[in-house]
Amino acid sequence: MIVGIPKETKNNESRVGMTPAGVLELTHKGHTVYVQSGAGIGSGFTNDVYEKYGAEILDTIEEVYARSEMIVKVKEPTPPEYPLIREGQVVFTYFHFASSEKLTRAMIDSKAICIAYETVEDTDGTLPLLTPMSEVAGRMAIQQGAKYLEKPVKGKGVLLGGVPGVPPGRVLVLGAGTVGIQAAKMAAGLGAHVTILDVDMKRLRYVNDIMPPHVMTQYSSEYNIRKHVRTHDLIVGGVLIKGAKAPKLITRDMLKTMHPGAVIVDVAVDQGGCVETSKPTTHEDPIFIIDDVVHYCVANMPGAVPYTSTLALTNVTLPYVLSLAEKGWEEACSDDMTLQKGLNIVNGEIVYDGLKSVFPEKLEMA
Ligand SMILES: NC(=O)c1ccc[n+]([C@@H]2O[C@H](COP(=O)([O-])OP(=O)(O)OC[C@H]3O[C@@H](n4cnc5c(N)ncnc54)[C@H](O)[C@@H]3O)[C@@H](O)[C@H]2O)c1
Repeated sequence: MIVGIPKETKNNESRVGMTPAGVLELTHKGHTVYVQSGAGIGSGFTNDVYEKYGAEILDTIEEVYARSEMIVKVKEPTPPEYPLIREGQVVFTYFHFASSEKLTRAMIDSKAICIAYETVEDTDGTLPLLTPMSEVAGRMAIQQGAKYLEKPVKGKGVLLGGVPGVPPGRVLVLGAGTVGIQAAKMAAGLGAHVTILDVDMKRLRYVNDIMPPHVMTQYSSEYNIRKHVRTHDLIVGGVLIKGAKAPKLITRDMLKTMHPGAVIVDVAVDQGGCVETSKPTTHEDPIFIIDDVVHYCVANMPGAVPYTSTLALTNVTLPYVLSLAEKGWEEACSDDMTLQKGLNIVNGEIVYDGLKSVFPEKLEMA
């Protein structure tokens, strides 16, 4: 198969869909890989390294799309890419269709085969191509939170680890899933006092078993959240209800009860956020302040650490890329229920049930 790796077109996105290690695997099996010139630079991979492992470098994104049977990338195609995608071409990437009717319409019109990383689902309900990005975002949440707690950037002026004779900072983590556990682990490693809340007692039992004693678990109720927001310096929002908007666990009135300079890192902002006052921000302008509380709400946090994120993502996507290249999309998807769940739009039709109900009437009329 001919596989194309375009340079990402989204603002501030430096990840790339395939590393030289992936190129080597594909070319060893007789496939052709075209990489757009400069596509890997932001993640530390030069054209020369890709060429060394068997890729051919093409100058423009137009050439990559025109010459490839399958496109492997990171973020959803942006409008300039829409006309480059053609009938029957496989596009394997994060799409997040539910958040963009324009993208959904464009991909229906293209008649391409759109396989979305975010809906590839294991039989146990886990999302293997989302997990590594949640791991990155959960760990980053503490780095960012620690930074914005510093006074020169409007924070409260608290060092999360404290020092001998001075108590550590207090971190409240909402949700004990992938983001929450990674955040709690980083915060605990810094020596912070950590409280983690969830509604799933199995998760809380697990956290209680694996975390050090300065990580407290508690059931996530409005009463407990109200109690804790008053006393914590950094709050990390990592809740998810699959297929739904994040519940607003921190309401506007709670902000007034928080310490001035406290920081909220709402990782769940890509699902609408679990804080009433959250709205998506970018790496260029990551924070805003309401009622003296610093809000960090970047919707693509892993994009800031492309060296790590590209490796973490391609570790999990490569086996599927290899299968798609070896067998073609139809056989690869019929052989593997996990990958089949990734099919969202095929030959102009929405095939993913969760997406059918998002904007059905408008799409039928269009
Ligand atoms: N901003 C970013 O760059 C970025 C990156 C990666 C992931 N995310 C987002 O982070 C969020 C969390 O992802 P994840 O992989 O950790 O999900 P996950 O499914 O692993 O964990 C979510 C947890 O939230 C818990 N939860 C549900 N309702 C709750 C409530 N009322 N109170 C407390 N906990 C509750 C669930 O029980 C679960 O344990 C998602 O919205 C995901 O899209 C954002």
